[in-house]
Amino acid sequence: MGEIILKTRDLTVDFKVRNRLFGRPDRLSAVQNVNIEVRRGEVYGLVGESGCGKTTLANTLLGFVPITSGAFECFGHTIDHRTKPDQWKAVRRHMQTVFQDPYTSLNSRFTVWQIISEPLFIAGERNERVLRERAASLVEKVGLSREDLDRYIFEFSGGQRQRVAIARALVAGAELIICDEPTSALDVSVHSQICNLLLDLRDEFELTYLFISHNLSLVKHITDHMAVMYLGEVMESGATAEIFAHPVTPYTRALMSAIPEVNPSGKRERIILTGEARSPINPPDLCRFASRCPEACDICRCAPLPPAICVGADHTARCHLTGKEWTL
Ligand SMILES: Nc1ncnc2c1ncn2[C@@H]1O[C@H](COP(=O)(O)OP(=O)(O)OP(=O)(O)O)[C@@H](O)[C@H]1O
Ligand code: SF4
Ligand SMILES: [Mg+2]
Repeated sequence: MGEIILKTRDLTVDFKVRNRLFGRPDRLSAVQNVNIEVRRGEVYGLVGESGCGKTTLANTLLGFVPITSGAFECFGHTIDHRTKPDQWKAVRRHMQTVFQDPYTSLNSRFTVWQIISEPLFIAGERNERVLRERAASLVEKVGLSREDLDRYIFEFSGGQRQRVAIARALVAGAELIICDEPTSALDVSVHSQICNLLLDLRDEFELTYLFISHNLSLVKHITDHMAVMYLGEVMESGATAEIFAHPVTPYTRALMSAIPEVNPSGKRERIILTGEARSPINPPDLCRFASRCPEACDICRCAPLPPAICVGADHTARCHLTGKEWTL
């Protein structure tokens, strides 16, 4: 595996939200002290329930959401809340994104070649022949044809639109592609086509993906490393194969117990979580999963979540009970 190209250090993002009763803003904790490392050439998965902060983390790396505290290192630059626009620009040129919904993320007034080449235009390229040629060189790589270049995006199916979005992500030479649920808005029949396309392009263009998904079976198959988030915090991270084989934290085990493919013999019983999820607004400095955790004990209700500890060769976890013998 290649060198580390993205490393977050206690990355934290809070949003200020209005408190209707008292008028003063509340703190919505969307991402809390996140530490992940992504290596060149890998697919790094980010999983967790809706609202756990996956998109906020991605948007923060892309500069769409300001950092509250902590930092991240990317392609040799360190970015924190004081970073100036020029330095952001230097980092952003290495990154592009493929959003969840190709129906709303692509401009319907543009033709395919204009959509694909727009990042190059934004980077300063004004020669129309060059822009069109770059778009033409990519359109076939993503499984469309040169004849499609002059068509409008509303003439395409969801899967074809996502192919256009992928070509657009590659046109300016980005090395790290952030894919935020790239298949979840598409018909199930095209999921594997889009995933296979992403993997083929990774090999051809030496890309790295940060791959956000709710689909754990997909994450198991296509990612090399992964992080499991719960209400803004990373509970467990490391090599995907290791985490699927030996999930350590109660939250990861509950998530995985729900996948039939991971649990084919029925040996691992489905863990049904009860209890109310904590609110992300002004959360106490305790494990955020404690209100639903079947293993929660006294220390979980009075002491902050401990830092990540090594629980395997390429596997870390944050839980008061790590180190205990788990029966799977
Ligand atoms: N601009 C914003 N202002 C206030 N709160 C926000 C904003 N964006 C996100 N949030 C909140 O931050 C938390 C994390 O949201 P986020 O969209 O990152 O979750 P997610 O893991 O991507 O969820 P999903 O799987 O549903 O896409 C949620 O509580 C959400 O309501
Ligand atoms: S720290 Fe406690 S509440 Fe949190 S996941 Fe571990 S056992 Fe459950
Ligand atoms: Mg999201």
